[in-house]
Amino acid sequence: MHPLLQQDLQSLPELTQAARDLALGYLQGLDERPAARAPRGQAVDAKPMPLQQGAAAAMALFEREWLPTLAGSAGPRYLGFVTGGATPASLLGDWLTSALDQNPTAGWDSEAPVLERQTVAALGEWFGLSAAHSGAFVSGATMSNFVGLALGREWLGEQRGVCVAEQGVAALGPVRILSGAAHSSIHKAASMLGLGRQAVRKVATLPGRDALDPLALEAELGALAGQAAVIVVANAGSVNSGDFDDLRAILALRQRHKFWLHVDAAFGAFAALDSRVADLVSGLDEADSVCVDCHKWMNVPYDSALQFTRRRDLQVRVFQNSAAYLGEVGERPDFVHLTPENSRRWRALPAWFAWAAYGRDGQAEIVTRNLDGARLLGELVAQEPALELLAPVRLNIVCFAVRGADDARAVQALLERLRDSGEAFLTPTFFMDRWAVRAAFSNWRTQAADVRRVFAALRALL
Ligand SMILES: Cc1ncc(COP(=O)(O)O)c(C=O)c1O
Repeated sequence: MHPLLQQDLQSLPELTQAARDLALGYLQGLDERPAARAPRGQAVDAKPMPLQQGAAAAMALFEREWLPTLAGSAGPRYLGFVTGGATPASLLGDWLTSALDQNPTAGWDSEAPVLERQTVAALGEWFGLSAAHSGAFVSGATMSNFVGLALGREWLGEQRGVCVAEQGVAALGPVRILSGAAHSSIHKAASMLGLGRQAVRKVATLPGRDALDPLALEAELGALAGQAAVIVVANAGSVNSGDFDDLRAILALRQRHKFWLHVDAAFGAFAALDSRVADLVSGLDEADSVCVDCHKWMNVPYDSALQFTRRRDLQVRVFQNSAAYLGEVGERPDFVHLTPENSRRWRALPAWFAWAAYGRDGQAEIVTRNLDGARLLGELVAQEPALELLAPVRLNIVCFAVRGADDARAVQALLERLRDSGEAFLTPTFFMDRWAVRAAFSNWRTQAADVRRVFAALRALL
C-alpha cells in the first residue's frame, strides 16, 4: 500500500473526526455565513495542484483555499433557483452512503436495492401515487425528466408498432413535445434523446400565467392528429412563478387524443403535503411518468431525485443492460435495467433517513412553513411601491419586478449587490415579458425572521 494510504488508514478516527468538526463549523455558522459569494474568477482555475501529503493536508488545504469561497447555500436565506439544504437525518444518511459505498444496481450481494424500492414506494405515497407507479432514484430532476421522456418515446413507438429501443428514433417519425412552460431540462432531455430541441413546442398559457391553457392544448392536439406523435409535459410547479397546469383538464383530453403524459413535479409534488394547496396536484397518479426532486424540497443533499412511471415494462425495454455477469432481467428487474446509470450511488439512503426520522409530518411542516414564508414575502413585496408582484404566490415561489430595473443587466446588478451584502441570494428570471426576480422557498431552516431579513436587505438596495 502507498505509504500515504497506509498512514491515512491508521489515522481514520482522527481524520473522520476532523471532517466532522469542519462540517459542523460550517453548519453551525450557516445563519451568519454569507448566503452566497462572488466567484473569484478565472485566475484561480490555473492554480497548480499542491504536492500530495495525505488526507489531513488535503483537508487543511481545502479549508484554507476553498471553504471560504463557498456559498451558504444550505442555509435559510439562500432563495435562488429551487435549492434545499440537508436536514440532520438526511445528512447522516448521506455520510453513511459514502462510508458504506454500496452499489444498489443489482440485488445479488446485499439488500441495499430493497431499501431503495421501499423508499421509492413510501415517498410515492406522500405524493398520492398508487402502487401502479414504480420508480427509482436518479441524480436530479433533469435525469428524472429524461427518463420520463425516454419512456414516452418508447410508448409512442409502441403505438406505431415499432420498438425505438431496438430500431432507433428514426423509426418513430415526427414527435412533438407540448408544454406550457417547459423547464429548460425538457429541452435538454429532448436533445439527449434524439428527439431534438425543436420537437418541444410551447402551448399558449392562460392570461398572465405560466399554466398551460387546456383549450389551446386541445387545439394543438387536434392539429397534430395524424401528423406527429405527442408527449405532453405538464408542469406541477413552474420554475418562474410556481404555477400549476390543471392536470385533471389535461387528463380529460385523453378521452379524445392519444399522448404520453409526463408531469414535471420536481418541487410541486410536495404540495400534496399541505391541505391548503394539495388540490394543485390532484390527478398526479394518473400521469404516465412523474418527476420529483429530493434535493429540492425534501432537503436531501445533492444529488437525488425520483422518477416514477406506470409502465415499468417500457422502462426495462429502454434501460435494460443484460450481460452474463449481471443476470437476467426477471420478474423484479434490478435497477441496472431501470435507470440510465449502471453502477450508482446508494441515493435512497439519505432520503430513507429523512423519511424514517421525520416522516410525512416532519416533511409537511417544512412545506407549510415554506409556504407561509413565501406568502409573507409576497405580502411585503406587494406593500412596497418600488416592487411589483408579478404573480400570486400559489406555492413557494415569489416572482416580482423591481421598478427601474427593467432589463436583464439591471436585475442582475441588483441581485449581485444583494449577494455581496451576504444577506440573501435570489436569482433572476424573465416572466410575462418582463425581467424579474424570483425567490424560491425550499430550505428547512428558513423562518419568518429570515424572510424579514431578506426583505430588509433587498429594500435597502432599492
Ligand atoms: C420544475 C423543475 N424541473 C426540473 C428542474 C431541474 O432540476 P435539477 O437541477 O435537479 O436537474 C428544476 C430545477 O430547478 C425545476 O424547478
